[in-house]
Amino acid sequence: MTKIAIIGGTGLTSIKGLEITGREIIQTPFGEPSGPLVQGILSGNKVYFLPRHGGGHTIPPHKINYRANIWALKEAGVEQVIAVNAVGGIRKDMQPGILVVPDQIIDYTVSRINTFFDEGLKQVVHIDFTSPFCESLRTNIINAATSHSITIIKEGTYAASQGPRLETAAEINRLERDGCHLVGMTCMPEAALAREKELCYASISVVANLAAGRGTEKLTMDVIEKNLNKGMEHVRQLLEAVIPTLN
Ligand code: HPA
Repeated sequence: MTKIAIIGGTGLTSIKGLEITGREIIQTPFGEPSGPLVQGILSGNKVYFLPRHGGGHTIPPHKINYRANIWALKEAGVEQVIAVNAVGGIRKDMQPGILVVPDQIIDYTVSRINTFFDEGLKQVVHIDFTSPFCESLRTNIINAATSHSITIIKEGTYAASQGPRLETAAEINRLERDGCHLVGMTCMPEAALAREKELCYASISVVANLAAGRGTEKLTMDVIEKNLNKGMEHVRQLLEAVIPTLN
């Protein structure tokens, strides 16, 4: 069985049902990961778990050391990574609590260190990122959701925004015109760095709120967390369903 890691986002700093067997502090050439790699057993299978905002949810999206996190997973021998990302829903069917498995990304982040290939190179490296997510892992996630009757949206274009503030209504209108369906702050550069390290990476995005200007409710952390809690129970069921199918 390949080694699997789950990167948890807002609303997923721990996984109910994960039997923790150890914690590994991994030093990296890029500094500290978000925390120790948690080793555990989920539905009978060994997994690693890394909460990207830190165990206490204190590291904001633009301050996450994405390179250290991905490097640490590679160093631990991980091959497949399921990222859980909180998002705002832009497309009408992306209502709070719904899960989405995005298939495309547009990157609007700025000033984040976004590559391993920037210093001391023998040669310039450009990776293929036509399909930013690992298609076999996406398929496994979608199949597990279908066979366990977990409602999921099977595709969507993820807009990666800089944060930490939420967007303006006009920014969301622009993202929609660009063809984006959901918006979050953490999938980039994480997905690109995973590709550079040849990790098979896919996202389960959980809609926490209607994107700015799409609803009437003021967007507060309370609203976001309440909706995320609803979606996270489905994320947990989906993780338990998909992990035994990965090989
Ligand atoms: N925008 C960006 N990131 C998010 C949102 C949002 O509306 N909700 C949760 N993460």
